[in-house]
Amino acid sequence: MYARNVWYMAGWSHEFPADAIVSHSYLGERMAFYRTSAGELVALEDRCAHRFAPLSLGCIEGDNLRCMYHGMLFSSDGECVEIPGQDLIPKQAKVRKFEVVERSGWVWFWAGDKQADFTTIPEMLPVDEPESYSARTGYLDYAASHQLISANLLDFSHLAFVHRDSFNADQEWTNAKPERQVLKNGIQLDWWVRNQTLPPGMGGKEGELVDQRALYQYLIPGVLRLMPSSYPAGSAPLSGSGPCNAEPVLDDFNGQAVTPIDEKNSRYFFSWITAAGENSEAHVDGAFKVACAAFAEDKRMIEAQQSVVDHTPPERRMMAMLGDSSITIFERMMKGASQ
Ligand code: FES
Ligand SMILES: [Fe+2]
Repeated sequence: MYARNVWYMAGWSHEFPADAIVSHSYLGERMAFYRTSAGELVALEDRCAHRFAPLSLGCIEGDNLRCMYHGMLFSSDGECVEIPGQDLIPKQAKVRKFEVVERSGWVWFWAGDKQADFTTIPEMLPVDEPESYSARTGYLDYAASHQLISANLLDFSHLAFVHRDSFNADQEWTNAKPERQVLKNGIQLDWWVRNQTLPPGMGGKEGELVDQRALYQYLIPGVLRLMPSSYPAGSAPLSGSGPCNAEPVLDDFNGQAVTPIDEKNSRYFFSWITAAGENSEAHVDGAFKVACAAFAEDKRMIEAQQSVVDHTPPERRMMAMLGDSSITIFERMMKGASQ
């Protein structure tokens, strides 16, 4: 079961070129994305009303999409506007239209049964404004459920084990306790980890000790807004959360979004973004490379975990640890949003 009356990420703007029909399966639904003559992105059910041929094998005609099996023509609202060889267009000659919103290079869709709520589109930094931000984007397909990926993103204690190599993370990440704030639509975590060294390419001088602040929101249905920052060692406030006054060695934005393909497969979108400046392109290249290595480490572990879960008898229950409390809260919120 999915939370449906929420926005999910469909992809990056540049993955939807003009004159192309892009097919994706999300939440168990096949969708055909294309751009109208004005460049507006549209998503229709990728299943012709006639004999269920995929519209993604069709062709774009102005603002409309033609099925290239027997030629039915659909408007960007999903209404059939022409049936070759007959004048009568029956009422059921239509396909579902999904609301799509493109914002600063991020593409979101709504697959709910309620009216799309345009006030709840996740706020992310632009990935298509190079004059203001240097940005890198990507995605990975996981043979794993979105729940397992969200649980991973809600518990950074795994950094000390899964990301020992990529992030140079040590057990301080397990010992430090985040300050948690429960939001209307997710969770905010804020904490400091002291005396770390940034991996090469992340910023700062080689071997320099830094205090790292991890501040993020994890929002329904699986949207991460992470503001990673690092400061010279000794800068972390005694309280263990909140800002400090020192000059940052690193101060970036890392936006991610998990979209279920189906119950056992997910697409994991990620970005690394920094304010444009003298060295920002080189910096974002370095940071993104480190992050990609870390994401590959997560994928290896989570896909293997999914395989074990699939081979575990249903009566076996997972054991909870102290650090799992944010996962429990978030899963409860998701359950509420799925009803
Ligand atoms: S399947 Fe599309 S027109 Fe026949
Ligand atoms: Fe991770």
